[in-house]
Amino acid sequence: HLHAIIPAGGVGSRLWPLSRAREPKFLLDLTGAGRSLIRSTWERIVPLTGEDRIIVVTGEAHRAGVMAQLPELPERNLVLESEPRDSTAAICLAAALIVRRDPEAIVASFPADHFIGDEPEFRAVVRDAVAVAATGRLVTIGITPTSPATGFGYIHVGEPLDPAGAAGLPARARAVTAFVEKPKAAVARRYVDSGEYLWNAGMFVARAADLLGWLERQEPELAAGIARIADAWGTDERDAERARVWPTLKKVAIDYAIAEPVAAEGDVAVIPGTFDWDDVGDFAAVARQVRKRNPGNLAILGEASVLSESSTGVLVSETDRLIAIIGVEDLVVVDTDDVLMITTGAHAQRVKEMVNMVRQTG
Ligand code: GDD
Ligand code: MG
Repeated sequence: HLHAIIPAGGVGSRLWPLSRAREPKFLLDLTGAGRSLIRSTWERIVPLTGEDRIIVVTGEAHRAGVMAQLPELPERNLVLESEPRDSTAAICLAAALIVRRDPEAIVASFPADHFIGDEPEFRAVVRDAVAVAATGRLVTIGITPTSPATGFGYIHVGEPLDPAGAAGLPARARAVTAFVEKPKAAVARRYVDSGEYLWNAGMFVARAADLLGWLERQEPELAAGIARIADAWGTDERDAERARVWPTLKKVAIDYAIAEPVAAEGDVAVIPGTFDWDDVGDFAAVARQVRKRNPGNLAILGEASVLSESSTGVLVSETDRLIAIIGVEDLVVVDTDDVLMITTGAHAQRVKEMVNMVRQTG
């Protein structure tokens, strides 16, 4: 049985002031689809798993927001964190709960905040990944890189897993010879130029028992903490055990804790993704997505009333103000009730620094 895990954490500080601590980016519509990123994620995976085999892991503060967007999510499949402990803890706790219900389960984790274009093709790729995961491998989905981005993991692609089709594995499944999370810019440049690497799409598919086995080998303390919480889950001790153990868990991303070392041991595979994919992480990405739906020089998200001449960029408004712009290129304007943020697409990554400054100055 395939079970899905949606880890929904992180504020999305590069999307400030749209994305806030109380309303993180996965609860927002950042592509102009008319629904939030987490709702889109849900709708794209329900055909794979059904509505009762998806676990969402998120912060306690986002409980109401998530339930409002995913009314079909059974209460018992919502795992709440008192504080973020990064993606290994979030995904592996969900896997530990799933394996206690279904020892043979295969789990697939899907980030809550991605854009995916061709959904039927996406599901075909996931089904291939599931077939390979059943052979005891950690399966990733690879995206052909279009720039030497440093915010992604890089997958060094090896030989086809089953070239003659003898094992019945999907023909496009490949071995992975190395997984490198967020390389430095010069290294990323070299990887992209070589043509031998794919971006990691941030999704992982494996047997739940295998995933927990790798966790135990790489991070035994983290594994023990997760096992304690999962063992107490169905009992009166759940809340007490969780309150005791969760804040002590090591904060580490699954890419470092599991994907890199397991790839070094030769147990990672990749299915090259043939669908349009984007991590909607900054306003340059928002502009790309909105423009796909509404081609034009200026990408406008939502109901903004705008007067523009000879300008390019992206505009987001949550106010009733009329926004007028003339002759500015690569512009990013985000107008909210209490903050007006202006930058350029080229500087979109640096919005994060602004958030830190605002925090410091109150
Ligand atoms: N519940 C919960 N709690 N979820 C979390 C936490 C946490 O503490 N930390 C991260 N997540 C979730 C995020 O919401 C997202 O869905 C997923 O885990 C990945 O975390 P990100 O913080 O978005 O990772 P990233 O974008 O820097 O890198 C990952 O994704 C890239 C593709 O977008 C890596 O997997 C990269 O290798 C990959 O290229
Ligand atoms: Mg991300």
